[in-house]
Amino acid sequence: MHFIDWVSNSSGIIVTVIFFTVFLGIAIWAYLPSNKKNLEDQGMIPFKGQEKTAKEKDELSGVETTGHNWDGIKELNKPIPRWWLIVFILAIIYAIGYWVLYPAWPVPHGNSRGELHWNEHKDLAKEESEIAAIQEKNLARIHTSTLQQIQDDKDLYEFAKDGGAAVFKQNCIVCHGSNATGGNGFPNLVDDDWLWGGKLEDIYKTIKVGIRSTSPDTRTSQMPSFGRDGILTPAQIQDVAEFVQKLHLGDKAEITPAYTRGKDIYAANCTVCHGKNGDGNQALGAPRHNDDIWLYGNGDMKSIVDSITNAHAGVMPSWEGRLSDDTIKELAIYVHSLGGGQ
Ligand code: HEC
Ligand code: HEC
Repeated sequence: MHFIDWVSNSSGIIVTVIFFTVFLGIAIWAYLPSNKKNLEDQGMIPFKGQEKTAKEKDELSGVETTGHNWDGIKELNKPIPRWWLIVFILAIIYAIGYWVLYPAWPVPHGNSRGELHWNEHKDLAKEESEIAAIQEKNLARIHTSTLQQIQDDKDLYEFAKDGGAAVFKQNCIVCHGSNATGGNGFPNLVDDDWLWGGKLEDIYKTIKVGIRSTSPDTRTSQMPSFGRDGILTPAQIQDVAEFVQKLHLGDKAEITPAYTRGKDIYAANCTVCHGKNGDGNQALGAPRHNDDIWLYGNGDMKSIVDSITNAHAGVMPSWEGRLSDDTIKELAIYVHSLGGGQ
């Protein structure tokens, strides 16, 4: 065995030996004839024939003295409180009990094992197997439960949410951001504005089949490129963009000639997908226009004109086949819990 291994294996013993050596050393040293006299003189250890005076009342404090007398210096008799003594004795009894029951004393190759044969590793293994059993049980229940049943069961719901959060970190934050608040072209999953629906079932389906993905069941739709394909002139696009930009203002919108022209263009070309009042349509993934939440840009004219001219077609991969159905359920529960679930 290398010396260093020996030291680390035997560190308990080494510390104990050093402790007792120092302790005994001091005691022996104190009673060496040459030192004893010295310490007695200083009153640090009692000596035979130490001068004792009668116990008396101290004038200043009114407390009795012990009768010890060091060159005229006397000691007040102030014993430690009874409760303190009891706690002290209990602590000693506790310590002795602990030594007997639990691993305590360093011995070669480790330490005394204690009557209970307690062992951290055993405890850990037990806890781990308990956790694994709970996990297995919960996973089995997620497998056989509907989304609604999972949501109604508080423990199972928390379990699914935690599982979903972990999978989300691994697979989704590249596009949706670490807080799931999205970015340009990537929807915010924390708010209550949904392109394809915010019910548990909707979210589950979106994750499973994806959007304009390679899955045969994918959610899909395509807005026409009104500018690029010459359906509307640039001037018409400018007008309808102004109308869209002001839609969320409702009655407060400033009515300009362009706004009025845009309103008609909107009614003729856009309401099929975006709804009569710009309410959007979740069956088509057509965003709501009468709120101030934007998938592309921040509601500035340039972004809106670009959306109408070229049209976007955001792609979200399908996760079926890549993640298990149970995991997709957990993800749906998690995304739904982020704040905007309906
Ligand atoms: C490659 C980028 C990308 C990744 C990775 C991705 N998403 Fe998406 N996700 C999108 C885009 C883009 C949209 C919006 C598509 C559109 O324009 O309709 C979207 C939309 C969604 C929606 C619908 C939001 C709504 O308003 O209806 C949900 C729910 C969603 N994603 C969840 C997830 C989850 C969960 C994961 C991880 C398993 C994930 N996404 C991973 C790009 C991604
Ligand atoms: C066939 C259905 C359809 C029609 C018709 C349609 N849109 Fe869209 N529109 C969509 C879809 C779907 C999206 C979302 C694209 C995406 O998610 O990538 C969208 C997105 C937009 C956006 C971006 C919204 C945002 O939050 O950034 C604007 C602006 C817009 N449409 C305006 C219009 C206007 C103006 C018209 C009429 C001239 C129109 N659309 C006609 C389906 C349509």
